[in-house]
Amino acid sequence: PAGLTDLVRSHVREIPDFPAPGVLFRDITPLLADGPALGELVRGLADVYRGKVDAVAGLESRGFILAAPLAVTLGVGMLTVRKAGRLPGPVIGVDYELEYGTARMEMRPETVDPGHRVLIVDDVLATGGTAAAAVELVEQAGGQVAGLSMLLELSELGGRSKLEDRQVDSVLVY
Ligand code: PRP
Ligand code: HPA
Repeated sequence: PAGLTDLVRSHVREIPDFPAPGVLFRDITPLLADGPALGELVRGLADVYRGKVDAVAGLESRGFILAAPLAVTLGVGMLTVRKAGRLPGPVIGVDYELEYGTARMEMRPETVDPGHRVLIVDDVLATGGTAAAAVELVEQAGGQVAGLSMLLELSELGGRSKLEDRQVDSVLVY
């Protein structure tokens, strides 16, 4: 929704050269710290997905911040997709490429009810590796990916191309 885009744009702070020289970091902490704005965002996202999803999966760690209130507002459960080694077993894992090296996301498959429509939520879609790993995990666990809801999309990093044939909604695209 257009109103949400402006709301988010006006509460994101741009920080040059963080965390490394040449990177323009989009910081969502002002948005999170503003109670009315945070509430409007969560309610606005819930209006989009109400009745269409059976669970919300948050991606560690900033995705958790949005996924939990969204799940509560929708009246569904929240699933955690976590960085390697954080969850007790049994877990399933998916490795993916980073600019330098690899990373791994994990999930407890029994948290996904068979056939449940799962909405994947994160704060930022950058190269798309994290989100694509989450899609694979949810499907391996027996869920259906209902879509992906990203707060910010950094389009020049091409993440959407790793999520072809998926419904990806980003509130604000840079
Ligand atoms: C950031 C962001 C996404 C991911 C996006 O998380 O919150 O989860 O990177 O990058 P990608 O599209 O290139 O995979 P980060 O690893 O910084 O972890 P954090 O949420 O714990 O800060
Ligand atoms: N902001 C927040 N998280 C990120 C960014 C950013 O600009 N790039 C990659 N992850």
